Amino acid sequence: MQNLEELKASITAIKDEILKGAADLKNSKEVYEFKKNFLDPKVGKISQLMKGVKDIPGEMRADFGKGVNELKNWAGERFNEMDEKMKAAEAKLRYESEKIDVTMPATHSMKGYLHPVTQIRNRVIDIFASMGFEVVETREIENDYYNFTALNTPQDHPARDMQDTFYLSPEFLLATQTSAAQIHTMEKKKPPIKMVAAPGKVFRSDDDATHSPMFHQIEGLVVDKKITLCDLQGMLDVLVANLFGEGTKTRLRPSYFPFTEPSVEVDVSCFECGGKGCRLCKGTGWIEVLGAGIVNRKVLENCNIDPDEYSGLAFGCGLERLAMLKYGINNIKMLYESDLRVLEQIDDK
Ligand code: DAH
Repeated sequence: MQNLEELKASITAIKDEILKGAADLKNSKEVYEFKKNFLDPKVGKISQLMKGVKDIPGEMRADFGKGVNELKNWAGERFNEMDEKMKAAEAKLRYESEKIDVTMPATHSMKGYLHPVTQIRNRVIDIFASMGFEVVETREIENDYYNFTALNTPQDHPARDMQDTFYLSPEFLLATQTSAAQIHTMEKKKPPIKMVAAPGKVFRSDDDATHSPMFHQIEGLVVDKKITLCDLQGMLDVLVANLFGEGTKTRLRPSYFPFTEPSVEVDVSCFECGGKGCRLCKGTGWIEVLGAGIVNRKVLENCNIDPDEYSGLAFGCGLERLAMLKYGINNIKMLYESDLRVLEQIDDK
């Protein structure tokens, strides 16, 4: 049988053990494990003492029970304090290690760009699509009939010399113009027709600072009752205002194409100088951008469309030329060299 002094000494011993052990604890997990030695309901030393209280003889029980209770409360508070302290230190460490310096310069990530010709083509298509045009595909290989004859340019026609053609055989050739899309469309569809043709890859034996043997065009065709040059100009005004900025206007000049009558060259008012005259417009205030006209009666007839009932307008436009004007590129070769220093500058949103 232990006397009260001995019982109290066991309380003091546990207290000392806790105080000593606490000094070595390094983190909240260790606190948790250490705490179990004393307060675990089954094996904890303090829990054991509590269980033993009922076996202490009467006169000592109250005293000892009080002492054990105080020990239990004291230990509970100490462990809570230790746990809070450790957790606060751990949280601080974690915040430090996860801290983000929002003033750091961003890491540069490479971004891809659409090719300038693709960008301009998408823009032009969007503009015409918003006016209700359908988009048809063009062909890279045509036969003589679609590229020339049906477009009122028979074999011996002098206008054939306007386009230096790459022949694949006496019959087949690399498309020199997207105008063949007019014939393909009118053969398939009866008026009313409103179409633009893309992607428009065309080929001509021509090569200098403003010409490339391969380039792109976009072709447009409208066939309906009472189509006039006014419709053409109104529509082109919408195009150029969207492409080059509000207030850009068009001017029609008489020209010649076998498949249109009358034919026109279309100029836009210089969007660089506003028409005063600058290097871009060579002092004239105007820049030539496309060919157009009223579809020649013979072309409608070739597609079995009655020219007395219907009339049409057509236009064809070089996309490289538009891209060069819009993005300030002065040599067409820059569009084909895949030089990222050039291409990265052209991101037309
Ligand atoms: N096909 C012509 C060329 O390549 C451009 C053209 C002019 C197309 C007048 C047309 C047009 O549709 O009406 O030079």
